[in-house]
Amino acid sequence: MASAMFSAPCSARPAKGLHCQNYVGLRLNTDLKLNTSVSVKSMKNGQSSGRLLIVRASEKRKEYLHKLGRSNEEHEAAVAAGNVPEAPPIPPKPAAPEGTPVVSSLPLNRRPRRNRRTPVMRASFQETTLSPANFVYPLFIHEGEEDTPIGAMPGCYRLGWRHGLIEEVAKARDVGVNSVVLFPKVPEALKTPTGDEAYNDNGLVPRTIRLLKDKYPDLVIYTDVALDPYSSDGHDGIVREDGVIMNDETVHQLCKQAVSQARAGADVVSPSDMMDGRVGAIRAALDADGFQHVSIMSYTAKYASSFYGPFREALNSNPRFGDKKTYQMNPANYREALVELQADEAEGADILLVKPGLPYLDVIRLLREKSSLPIAAYQVSGEYSMIKAGGVLKMIDEEKVMMESLMCLRRAGSDIILTYFALQAARCLCGEKR
Ligand code: PBG
Repeated sequence: MASAMFSAPCSARPAKGLHCQNYVGLRLNTDLKLNTSVSVKSMKNGQSSGRLLIVRASEKRKEYLHKLGRSNEEHEAAVAAGNVPEAPPIPPKPAAPEGTPVVSSLPLNRRPRRNRRTPVMRASFQETTLSPANFVYPLFIHEGEEDTPIGAMPGCYRLGWRHGLIEEVAKARDVGVNSVVLFPKVPEALKTPTGDEAYNDNGLVPRTIRLLKDKYPDLVIYTDVALDPYSSDGHDGIVREDGVIMNDETVHQLCKQAVSQARAGADVVSPSDMMDGRVGAIRAALDADGFQHVSIMSYTAKYASSFYGPFREALNSNPRFGDKKTYQMNPANYREALVELQADEAEGADILLVKPGLPYLDVIRLLREKSSLPIAAYQVSGEYSMIKAGGVLKMIDEEKVMMESLMCLRRAGSDIILTYFALQAARCLCGEKR
């Protein structure tokens, strides 16, 4: 009898001696030999997707017993009569190095180290897992043909929307990352104080969504809803002459932007602007246009953080004056995240996001405990660049720190992680190293 099951959608070969394999159950992570009657067959399913495992129950055991010539009863009788068969001796106690103090053992009922003793036991008791399915890959796009490296984010590029982007998405899909979020670098000439390019149906983002959906219909596309890449002021909203960011007028623009993205085929629109009331207004606008199926991932707790620096360089979207502190949250505040959470839930958000990630694990945990909705964490540009820089300078092991940081974001309570490491980490999880 054979039963079949598919392993994770990942075409990569198993790794040898890579620490990352601890993170997900894609394969055995020890060199234990399979000496049972399970036969594992590897098969290519169509393109490069799943591996087929066939498990067979063997019927050979009985024959084997008969060949030995003694029944179970005879074996038992022999042992009862004192004829105990040979087995390896009781192992000697390992010696401690010379000079080790001789002490009486501590009277401990609890020795937590027992559960950490071997790799197999550690894997058994691992509480959190990390999978390529948890990642959303943020991608920068531009109008050009070439991919332009982003100085402040080693390994990241502004991708040509027609070529580089399509290739990058193919690479990500190949290791199980099938969700992306798009960030456009908009030509300066198209930026205005009211950011109207944001809802041009033929603008860079809607055009790119249509192309991606045409090539990869099952790709899940997240979009950013905010005016900053389109604003000549570099702010997420419309700026009044006295410098005030106008709330309700901005929300009006954001609704048009979200609907335009939905019309192009976006699956999840993600308001990152932090205006009040935008989730409810966007929900109503989407529904009115027949986009009831399009989700909203709200940047619920987005802090006014200096960790966004490299991103603003990538898009040349630094605010022309001032800062974003009248709409993004004060990094000193924790309870305030609950105010935002309650508003977003009431207004109909489908996913709640915390940003940045690692410095705000307490906020991720707070939202996880106070809401039943899926939680997203954004490991932002500054977090990415610090790990990259530390790796380049050989101050830390880049790959291990990368995997640990992602695992910690999951442990704190996030379901999905927006991370520039999505491709690199997924390759690591699939046992590929490049
Ligand atoms: C803007 C936006 C920002 C990021 C995502 N969307 C920058 C900002 O708020 O200034 C930052 C992402 C990152 O740093 O990786 N709406």
